[in-house]
Amino acid sequence: MSRRRALIVGASRGLGLGLVTRLLEQGWDVTATVRRPSAALADLARLGPLQIETGLDIDDDAAVAALAGRLSDAPDFECVFVVAGVATQAGTPAGLIPRAVAGAVFQTNALSPIRFAEAFRKRVTRDGLIVLMTSKLGSVSLNRGGGWGSYRASKAALNTLARSFAGQHSGAEWGLVLMHPGWVRTDLGGRRAALDVETSARGMVSVIEARLGQRGCVFLDYTGAPLPW
Ligand SMILES: NC(=O)c1ccc[n+]([C@@H]2O[C@H](COP(=O)([O-])OP(=O)(O)OC[C@H]3O[C@@H](n4cnc5c(N)ncnc54)[C@H](OP(=O)(O)O)[C@@H]3O)[C@@H](O)[C@H]2O)c1
Repeated sequence: MSRRRALIVGASRGLGLGLVTRLLEQGWDVTATVRRPSAALADLARLGPLQIETGLDIDDDAAVAALAGRLSDAPDFECVFVVAGVATQAGTPAGLIPRAVAGAVFQTNALSPIRFAEAFRKRVTRDGLIVLMTSKLGSVSLNRGGGWGSYRASKAALNTLARSFAGQHSGAEWGLVLMHPGWVRTDLGGRRAALDVETSARGMVSVIEARLGQRGCVFLDYTGAPLPW
């Protein structure tokens, strides 16, 4: 069997870096994107075949198009996973957060992942997966306590845009997974989070490997459990 290939978008640190580590350990070929060079990512080349693409800001349509051009001769990917996300001023309520900040969070967390998926959907193999990193906080039905308002709203918007994207491409031969990684100790998740990166990444890669070949649009956590929208 030929080696499976993954494209990991936003791999400089945190969960993206953890996913690249686990995928290489599992024998995947990985292409990983970053905005700026990451020594931690470069170091992972010791684990297996890793191609690093720098200068990819997911909010920059021209940079996404340039990446698509650079990768046009490469084999298609079994998994395209958009990991990049932000939680800028997540603690500031919607009534107080600067409009420009809330707008930028929406761009990066909701619109840009869908645009990336649109740009790369034809590069996903038959029976492959597009995976978008969302959050349990994006579940409308689970939102009882509030908090992290703009971040929650951006991930809820991502989930909604992803359902629309799946609907627009209902005949596609790939599946779409909205992935909640758990609450994880990263710069974004903070030091008090419940999980380490390795545990979350291990779980997410298991979920991906188990779901290859399944179509439709699902909202799952890192253990494979479905989450309510
Ligand atoms: N940690 C958690 O508990 C948790 C829970 C639920 C969901 N998530 C989601 O998981 C994803 C990864 O989060 P994390 O915890 O690993 O956070 P992190 O450690 O803060 O890493 C964020 C990553 O996103 C990249 N990024 C941000 N904006 C970008 C842009 N415009 N273009 C390209 N890359 C960009 C960063 O790159 P730079 O290094 O260049 O800034 C970095 O690689 C996010 O989507 C987050 O919402 C995390």
